Amino acid sequence: MKTVITYGSFDLFHEGHHNLLKRAKALGDKLIVGVTTEQFDIYRGKLNVVDSLMRRVDRVRQTGFADEIIIEDHEGQKIEDIQKYKADIIVFGSDWVEKCNYLNKYCEVVYLERTKNVSSTILRHERSGIIRLGIVGTGRIAERFMQETKFVSGVDVAGVFNPRTESAKKFGKKYEVQPYFEDFDGFLKQMDAIYVATPHDTHYEYICKALLFKKHVLCEKPMALSKRDVEALFHIAFENKVVLMEAIKTAYAPGFIKLLSIAESGRIGNIYDVEAAFTKLIPYDPDIREYNPTVGGSFTELASYSVLPIVKLLGNNYQSLDFESFLAENCADIYTKARFKYDNAIATAKTGIGVKSEGQLLISGTKGYILVKSPWWLLKSFDVCCENIHENETFSAPFPGFGLRYELADFIRNISDPTHRNFKFSKEDSIFMSVVIENFLKYAHRR
Ligand code: CTP
Repeated sequence: MKTVITYGSFDLFHEGHHNLLKRAKALGDKLIVGVTTEQFDIYRGKLNVVDSLMRRVDRVRQTGFADEIIIEDHEGQKIEDIQKYKADIIVFGSDWVEKCNYLNKYCEVVYLERTKNVSSTILRHERSGIIRLGIVGTGRIAERFMQETKFVSGVDVAGVFNPRTESAKKFGKKYEVQPYFEDFDGFLKQMDAIYVATPHDTHYEYICKALLFKKHVLCEKPMALSKRDVEALFHIAFENKVVLMEAIKTAYAPGFIKLLSIAESGRIGNIYDVEAAFTKLIPYDPDIREYNPTVGGSFTELASYSVLPIVKLLGNNYQSLDFESFLAENCADIYTKARFKYDNAIATAKTGIGVKSEGQLLISGTKGYILVKSPWWLLKSFDVCCENIHENETFSAPFPGFGLRYELADFIRNISDPTHRNFKFSKEDSIFMSVVIENFLKYAHRR
């Protein structure tokens, strides 16, 4: 009795999958097929899987080739499964050649020729088309974003806009994209969607215009500096049936999503306190964006991160919010502490560009606490700690590269599937963020 085992996502089940399973089954008497979970796919960099796990399992079952279907949800599972199911042969398509030879010491490794010209990736592109994305702004974050786009399928960067001719040309040359610098309307006409990474106070105008042209918009945080503006933008997006999303990378990262589900599962009991800090020293220069006294300063620059876990865990219905800031010569804040009071909880968000602090996230509950060490916003692991230290546990998750690929993957998914609900950072979350920033600006301008 020979047992054969093989693995895959089997998304949008196609002829290539069918052929592979048929040939794998013919190699032995029993075929076990491992189907990956969505989380594991995200972990290994497949960000756009369309079908649910149940649907993918069903499609494999319907072929009649699989004698048993199992779920693959973690790295290293193949070795465990080979031993557990006493597999004699493990099968991969030829795209895996050489990569799985390490399994030779556990069983025979067979690579089967892939079926030509078909793959889930091709089918996903055919379904949603390739989205032509334009980048607005050419600063550091736009450069990082550009590098991350290659990890997300279904998107093609088709142009970059910056009214400053030289910057647009330089960026265009470096990343081989068409630069635009004169005519924003002309640029918009060439795109299906744009990513806005310009100074905060220019967001509203760029977003508004793009939405009116019926272009989807992903905008760097903060989307706008007042509740009225953010609400107006979402209204325009709704009227024009396009997606509007705020890009706070941590909100879309797998580790942060995992942290929220564990915190909300009751594992640390009722949450009474959330404390988050983000500081980044930037040498004082009154002429740079970060020290602009009207719209710059540490809070507008960094609060989107520090406030994120607070809104996600405690919601938007706080009782009171107050601030304490220290200011630079030109009155831009160099360090700010925002204190939230909820019915049954308190929270603190700290930001600094002229004061350095520990950049950690601490969530305290009645049964324990969750600690994410600095830099918590690039969340790769976190500790759940209890009174009984034997119950402590460390969780980990991927955060590859600059971590911007996850927000882009969600943006593309929202565009391709209008029924998809953006719970990771919703319209209500963006509005809440704008309320906090607007309150801060009122406080800052009173001083
Ligand atoms: N496979 C194949 N021929 C194809 C496509 C896939 O033989 N044309 C094989 C893969 O090599 C793998 C299995 O089918 O052994 C499951 O592959 P999966 O990654 O789910 O399919 P892909 O179509 O390659 O998916 P994607 O485009 O998302 O990478």
